[in-house]
Amino acid sequence: MGGVSNATTPSLPSADRPEVAALLREALLAASFTADGLLDLLGAPAYAALARSETVPALRATRGDTPLETLVRLFLLQQPAPHARVAEFLPVHACVESGWLAPAGPDEVAATVDVRPYGGPDGEDWFIVSDLGCAVGGAGGSANGGRQADAAVVLGVGGASTTLAGITVRKPVAAALDLGTGSGIQALHAAQHATRVTATDLNPRALHITALTLALSGAPAADLREGSLFEPLRDDETYDLIVSNPPFVISPGARLTYRDGGMGGDDLCRSVVQGAGERLNEGGFAQFLANWQHVEGEDWQDRIRSWVPRGCDAWIVQREVQDVTQYAELWLRDAGDHRGDQADYQARYDAWLDEFEARKVKAVGFGWITLRRTAAAEPVVTVEEWPHPVEQPLGDTVLAHFARLDHLRTHDDAALLAGRFRLAAEVVQEQVGLPGAEDPEHVVLRQHRGMRRATKVDTVGAGFAGVCDGSLSAGRILDAIAQLVGEDPVSLRDRTPAQIRLLVEQGFLEPAE
Ligand SMILES: C[S@@+](CC[C@H](N)C(=O)[O-])C[C@H]1O[C@@H](n2cnc3c(N)ncnc32)[C@H](O)[C@@H]1O
Repeated sequence: MGGVSNATTPSLPSADRPEVAALLREALLAASFTADGLLDLLGAPAYAALARSETVPALRATRGDTPLETLVRLFLLQQPAPHARVAEFLPVHACVESGWLAPAGPDEVAATVDVRPYGGPDGEDWFIVSDLGCAVGGAGGSANGGRQADAAVVLGVGGASTTLAGITVRKPVAAALDLGTGSGIQALHAAQHATRVTATDLNPRALHITALTLALSGAPAADLREGSLFEPLRDDETYDLIVSNPPFVISPGARLTYRDGGMGGDDLCRSVVQGAGERLNEGGFAQFLANWQHVEGEDWQDRIRSWVPRGCDAWIVQREVQDVTQYAELWLRDAGDHRGDQADYQARYDAWLDEFEARKVKAVGFGWITLRRTAAAEPVVTVEEWPHPVEQPLGDTVLAHFARLDHLRTHDDAALLAGRFRLAAEVVQEQVGLPGAEDPEHVVLRQHRGMRRATKVDTVGAGFAGVCDGSLSAGRILDAIAQLVGEDPVSLRDRTPAQIRLLVEQGFLEPAE
């Protein structure tokens, strides 16, 4: 474990005992302490309640003393269990000796960290290690009970973690970087398709926990580096994949390392995005979650566009916008502040609004940023708003987006018309208009896969898309449509490529060659 000292993290299990992690893993699997086993045992409502940091339903569902019930109470609900009972299904001596368990009261043991079963994309049984009470929900999680969270606390899997894991392009690569690794969840995913994984964090406790997550999940160890942003990397180190779910929260002061970047406003997110450009190999992807400010008198799209480093294509999707009050409340609750002293809560809330006022921030955008290093003379930056549900995982959709972009970039209108296209799978047409009206007011094409986009088209666009099965060139299809509707084929060929480009860009049509 390069550069990670046990002295700073005395209460964590030893990261230098892989043989104990392997034994523990075997015992956990034998007891069905897996994502599926957990869901079966708890049932969907109690399972979902845990994600909201509500433990009562799970406690009620684990009142028996089967191995699985005992493990859930130990590793997810911070309940001590009888030493003798635990010894029947866990290597309890080795676990106590190496620090996974600690003696608790007469004849009982307690877990020193949370361990959450986590299912990988191909059915892998993984485990995410985190600080006690932080396997689910935020730092205001179950073990905190309203106490102030420790600045160095390491959280487990949150919605943001799984979102980033889902949008990440998963093609085999040589070198991947997980910046701000936390529990190690992104590094664990990357270890499945990257030969080498480097994981960095400002918080040494996070690196220690990442080593535990990887070992307990049976994944190869990562190269762990302590430090801020790109600082732990040598000048010549570049990657094929960079992922980061950075501490993106825009807050008045650096209080919690896992979420408060500690730079002013959205500067930390900007630094991560800008810094990634020179760390990417050609064709390599960098994917981030980020928050950005909506500042009075400024177009948010211009702000975020200005972050894109030179030599990179970018696809930026704003998924949500919150006004400053919603935003402050979200993160106050995340830290459990709402359960503490009311005067403190109000003072913190006030400070948050002061900060936004000083920066002229009206709202905060949340979204995904994907960069791809390109040799193209004119990189393409797409910024859009898509707040609607999507179909995760989206990694292949992201890859296909950039492939279509390459196609459009290298095909002028004449080449586009000479090309053939295919309607993407599961695209349907919807007609929108008043009930009973003879003609629809407009026609919408809707995707049922990937981004699940919907876009308005005119009758030519709808007819064109419907005929695209990869057999006829776009120009031939337009000529046929022109004849059908009695329009001049030359003018139709002239005005339609823009619409075809949009349909290709958005994934309704795919180049057939
Ligand atoms: C939101 S957590 C993400 C954890 C994990 N990667 C995930 O996806 O769940 C952000 C992580 O960034 C780390 N961090 C905070 N400031 C940092 C910095 N300046 N440089 C590198 N890592 C930082 C925090 O310690 C924390 O582990």
